[in-house]
Amino acid sequence: MQLDFSYYNPTTIHFGKDSLAKLKEEAPKYGKTVMLVYGRNAIKANGLYDKVVAILEQAGKKVVELSGVMPNPTLEKMREGVQIVRDHNVSLILAVGGGSVIDCAKGISVSAYCEDQDPFVKYWCEFKDVDNEVVPVASILTMVGTGSEMNGGSVITNEETKYKAGRVFPAHVFPKFSILNPEYTFTVSQYQMVSGVFDTMSHLMEQYFSDKGANTTDYVIESLLKSSIDNLRVALKAPNDYEARSNLMWNATLALNTLTGLSKSQDWQVHMIEHQLGAYTDCAHGMGLAAISLPYYRLIYKFGLEKFVRFATQVWGIAAEDKTDEEIALAGIDALEAFTKECGIVTSLEELGATKEMLPKIAESTIILGGGYHAITTQEIQQVLEACF
Ligand code: NZQ
Ligand code: ZN
Repeated sequence: MQLDFSYYNPTTIHFGKDSLAKLKEEAPKYGKTVMLVYGRNAIKANGLYDKVVAILEQAGKKVVELSGVMPNPTLEKMREGVQIVRDHNVSLILAVGGGSVIDCAKGISVSAYCEDQDPFVKYWCEFKDVDNEVVPVASILTMVGTGSEMNGGSVITNEETKYKAGRVFPAHVFPKFSILNPEYTFTVSQYQMVSGVFDTMSHLMEQYFSDKGANTTDYVIESLLKSSIDNLRVALKAPNDYEARSNLMWNATLALNTLTGLSKSQDWQVHMIEHQLGAYTDCAHGMGLAAISLPYYRLIYKFGLEKFVRFATQVWGIAAEDKTDEEIALAGIDALEAFTKECGIVTSLEELGATKEMLPKIAESTIILGGGYHAITTQEIQQVLEACF
């Protein structure tokens, strides 16, 4: 483990079929008013909304609501939530949904009492430290993929400037507790399920493809990738397979709760490109990542050949036989591509709503992090995007 680290994660996870009952124990720890944050229709359609409200009311809470949080949550929606928190003196923000809902909740949490500056500029553009009061956030997860249930990530889209901005907040902004019942994911559409699992895999790959050699974190990542591949295959055939859905759920949490980044310098360039693709197309996050990953890895594998060989042999079981390292590495990326096709993951930018005219704007507005194996240029980003058509 060559890079030093400190490890702390404050989120309590309540996992399993009966985990919603834990809300009864958690609710009394917070003040009178709870703001429920949720998406458009899913939690009302599957009955979860009624169950959550009943528990909160039994606990003597006053419930206020921010509904209609959309995928790729907007700054406008976040501001609507900020106003509700201020108007009602909210003491707990309870997000019930997927990554978009939880991200929006964290955004509201840090913004509600930020008075010296516009919070979006301060926290998502200038990346300043959080120095104002934050409202506690908790979550009930209904869609697997982002890891937002156990991390400080909050990705908010400013529709006016077409900037999808990601910020990782420190531990005091992480959810205080998250309730993970795999059964709540049974109603997620196949499209969203595969998108979410690719998001998990992308988080793992973004952390894996960096540095020389392989430390314990790399071994953990390889196992989580294999588990995601195997369990997605099961869940595609049997969407209500509890074991498969629970493995996918826990994989996603572990893939981005900081554990799989320990002692890794990490890349994250695929995410930076996807964020701008999402700002222009509003595509499903995981689908955008899949489209970009394939040409991106074909561009950078030469710079991290040893790791791409390992990826091919350890994750995809590619036999070395008499192949060169380059052939093995490319066979690993081919296996990733074949898996995306097998699972119906959309990798065509056209299908995801992009036009060729958008590409220069997406490329130019993408943040270049310079980590990973290759410091990409704007021109190369455009080439990666063109290869997705
Ligand atoms: O709007 P509703 O009706 O709730 O429907 C949602 C939404 O349409 C639906 N859904 C959720 N749970 C469901 C369900 N449908 C049926 N049954 C259920 N149980 O799924 C759709 C997508 O939901 P969303 O929350 O947008 O998906 P996801 O979890 O993939 O979140 C994507 C957002 O998270 C950000 C992405 O950029 C994107 O904005 N990310 C957040 C990260 C973080 N916090 O660390 C890291 C990620 O890399 C990512 O950037
Ligand atoms: Zn992601």
